[in-house]
Formats: sequence, structure tokens, C-alpha cells
Amino acid sequence: MWEIKLADGFTVSALGLGCSSMSHGYGPGDRDDEESAKVLHRAVDLGITLFDTADVYGPFTNEELLGRTLEPYRDRIRFATKCGLIARPDGNLTRNGRPEHLRAACEASLRRLRTDAIDLYQLHRIDPDVPLAETWGALGELVTEGKVRALGISHATTAELDLVHRVFPLTTAQYELSVWAPENGAEVLPWCRAHGVGFLAFAPIGRGFLSGKVSHDSLYTGDSRNRDPRFDLDAMQANEVILAGLRDVCARHGGAVTPSQVAIAWVLAQGPDVVPIPGTRRLRWLEENAAAAELRLTEEDMQQLDRLPSAIGEMRWDAVRPDGADLSRTARTTQD
Ligand SMILES: NC(=O)c1ccc[n+]([C@@H]2O[C@H](COP(=O)([O-])OP(=O)(O)OC[C@H]3O[C@@H](n4cnc5c(N)ncnc54)[C@H](OP(=O)(O)O)[C@@H]3O)[C@@H](O)[C@H]2O)c1
Repeated sequence: MWEIKLADGFTVSALGLGCSSMSHGYGPGDRDDEESAKVLHRAVDLGITLFDTADVYGPFTNEELLGRTLEPYRDRIRFATKCGLIARPDGNLTRNGRPEHLRAACEASLRRLRTDAIDLYQLHRIDPDVPLAETWGALGELVTEGKVRALGISHATTAELDLVHRVFPLTTAQYELSVWAPENGAEVLPWCRAHGVGFLAFAPIGRGFLSGKVSHDSLYTGDSRNRDPRFDLDAMQANEVILAGLRDVCARHGGAVTPSQVAIAWVLAQGPDVVPIPGTRRLRWLEENAAAAELRLTEEDMQQLDRLPSAIGEMRWDAVRPDGADLSRTARTTQD
């Protein structure tokens, strides 16, 4: 797979692999570590070098899976993990950006990932109870000490990006970006571009919706998408218009490509500094998604996709209060 240079010395494959659903979030009853290991091995074969995880995925089991499965390939891959978000025993999520927590979290992630340095350490959420410069200073120290090679952040405002980048250089910023959620492309991407910071685009397939293979009835009871307003029945029906646009593009390519591939190619077309990190637990979808790196959308395709409306049903990914309450919904937990 071709590569993207995100910042000095930080080169990754055109597509990363989002690993969260292997352990967490989308139908927890469906977890299959053996199958996930096959997906991870195949991803390496396909030339994918960036593997996105977090200590809170599982919690912890996602990093463990990656650590034991990818150990033989450690010299050719990059681990991108995250810190600062904690699963409490009651299932709620809470934030912790205190230096002592981040240092301990880093040591634990190093152990689980079976490595002596984390390639990309991303602050998952900013803790409003801790001055951001203090949080970021602690992460910068981990780089200086060689435990971490580069820093990333997720869900920050551009003012927060300014602040952290002044305290210690930022290598990547991670936000949702897809055909049905294009807003961060207009709001955050220009900041990243102006500062030479790479952009990791999570949920490029709209948490599966843009594949056209997710129906309201197919979601498991525990599936986190049940708490995503975009997956309410009415919203899903309204959002079909976005899927129809993707299918039109597929038809123009003679039916040789899938809606998921078009969705991924649209993200890649946002620029040479944007890396989609689609997630899957299935070999056939991994292979399908990887092939999207070779799909070139035409000007007509892009114009049609850019004219599509954003999704109905606002998902507020940052809507987790420090006390763990999900402000976007009344549910017990929220997706990260
Ligand atoms: N920074 C953050 O706060 C944050 C938030 C969310 C996600 N992320 C990261 O971004 C990664 C990707 O996001 P995501 O997994 O939420 O959303 P996504 O990549 O848009 O979609 C993943 C969903 O689509 C399905 N899928 C994947 N490829 C498919 C294909 N070709 N055909 C049909 N269905 C397909 C997957 O099914 P299966 O799982 O069953 O294979 C899964 O349900 C995560 O793994 C995580 O690493 C970060």
C-alpha cells in the first residue's frame, strides 16, 4: 500500500486500521480474538502499518490483542494508542488528564502492547479539571524520555490545538470525518494543514452505515450505535439519501466498487495529509477497504458526494462529562 508522510519522520500507510470493534462497542457478544488476529495478520500483509487502539477499548483487551498478535511485526508497524479516558466499574466513562495518571497509563500500555515505545500516543479526551498545558507537558515528557515517539490528540478545539502545539509539537489530530460527517474537514483540517499536523479520520464508513449493510434491526442490544442519534430509525431512513449518493458513484464505476470503498476514497481525496482509519473485524471487509486506497474518484464523483447533506441526528463525540454522564444521550456509557 502507498504511504503518507504525516510529519517529519512519521510515515504511515494510506489507510490505518481502526481496531476498537475487535474488542468493544459494536456487538460485544460478537468478539472473536482468533478471527481478529487473522484480520491483523492480513492487514500487515496488505501493507497497513498504522493500528489505532486505546487503553479504554475493552478496556485494555484491545491493546493486549494487538500486543500479542503484532509482536512479530513490531519493526514494520506503528501503534497509535490513546490515554485520558477511563472506563469506570459501573460502565460509565470518565476523563483523567492528570500527569501521574498519564504516566501510569503509558507504562501499562507499553506492557500490553509489548513494546518499549509507543509510536503515537493520543490524548483521547481533554480533562476539563486539569490545565491542558499540564496534561500536555506530561505527555511531552514521555516523548523526551523515549517512551513515546510522537503525540496526537482527539476531539480538541482549534484553540486547544494551538495551545498543545505550543507546549510540545503535535504530530496528528484525530476526528470523525466522512461523507456523512464532513464538518471537521472544514473546521479542523485547515488548522492541521497550516501547522503541518497529520489528520487521522475516524469512522470513515459512518460506523458501518455508509457500507449500506447496517439496518436498524441488525444492531445488537448492547451495540453502542443504539445510542447514536444517527442510528435512530427515523434518522436512518432520512440518511438513506447519503447512501443513495454513494451507490450512484458505484454505478458510475460500473458496479466494480462498493459504497464502503467510495466512502473511504472520499476521505483519502481530502488531501495527502489525511489518513482514514476504517475499523473491521472481518477479513473480507478488511480486503475490500484496503482496495479503496487504489480507487480514484472523478471530479463528477466528488462534486456529487460533496453536495450530499450531512447526517441527520447529531452525534456529540465529545459529550462525556468528567463524571462519566453521557450528555448526548441518557445512556449509561458513550462510544469513544
Ligand atoms: N478518537 C475517537 O474518539 C474515536 C472514536 C471512534 C472511533 N475511533 C477509531 O476509529 C476507528 C474506526 O471507527 P469505527 O470503527 O467507529 O467506524 P467505521 O470505521 O466507520 O465503521 C466500522 C463499522 O463498519 C463495519 N465495516 C467496516 N468495513 C466494512 C465493509 N467493507 N462493509 C461493511 N461493513 C463494514 C464494521 O463492521 P465489523 O466491525 O463487524 O467488521 C464496523 O461495524 C475505530 O476502530 C477506532 O480506532 C476513534
